[in-house]
Amino acid sequence: MEIIVLSDPAAVGRHAARLIADTLARRRDPVLGVATGSSPLGTYAALAALAREGLDLSRTTAFALDEYVGLDPSHPEAYHSVIDREVTLPLGLDPRKVHVPHGAAADLSAACAEYEAAIEAAGGIDVQLLGIGANGHIGFNEPGSSLGSRTRVKTLAPRTRRDNARFFGGDVEAVPVHCLTQGIGTILRARSVLLVATGEAKAAAVAAMAEGPLGAFCPASALQLHERATVVLDEAAASKLVDREYYDFARDHAPEAAPGLD
Ligand code: F6R
Repeated sequence: MEIIVLSDPAAVGRHAARLIADTLARRRDPVLGVATGSSPLGTYAALAALAREGLDLSRTTAFALDEYVGLDPSHPEAYHSVIDREVTLPLGLDPRKVHVPHGAAADLSAACAEYEAAIEAAGGIDVQLLGIGANGHIGFNEPGSSLGSRTRVKTLAPRTRRDNARFFGGDVEAVPVHCLTQGIGTILRARSVLLVATGEAKAAAVAAMAEGPLGAFCPASALQLHERATVVLDEAAASKLVDREYYDFARDHAPEAAPGLD
């Protein structure tokens, strides 16, 4: 796991956007995995700025990590709407190439299997952007999730529902109880993963992910198994890391390599 600590959230967004742009530029038909929530917003803003300067993302296929069950796709907080608003429009993606799990499907298991098949058919994900929950979740793989799991229905943790109530006018009861989420096994199949985290509230989860034992109690710790996992943090999110001296030293002495995540 490569850990890069930068001064503030804006620097995190700019760095992550540059890594994504470099990786996608090397593919003819790139596939980007996208996250929702607050963490990736700076990255999307920086990618949108690169798009305004000429970065062409129109050939990029995108797959969202997750979706609430039971919200109509047109609900403003359904991830269908959020991805449209925060990602597809500002980045200039082709809406026909943007996929979000069907949380309103009559047959949710079939929707999950179709989603896995669609990722496969697109050739797999080149770079998966991730945030991390305060409880260590990635996607909506809550603590205890199988490290080999694939896209499936999950029950959200009470803490996640409380954390996400801010998107629902502060009403925790309005936050759906269930979701569809790519599994940890699905995420690990991406050719590279890029996790961004900012703020003190993520510091404990970040330390458990990077320096704690590998285990389902901290789902993000599964990224320790990934060959190409990059973590970009601001100072606050990095504040509970023990081996900070090494991460900074390694960042300043990176071996000669092509830019990007692979
Ligand atoms: C979002 C997702 C979640 C979030 C996590 C952090 O698609 O899968 O894992 O990345 O809950 O959320 P924020 O960034 O809002 O703190």
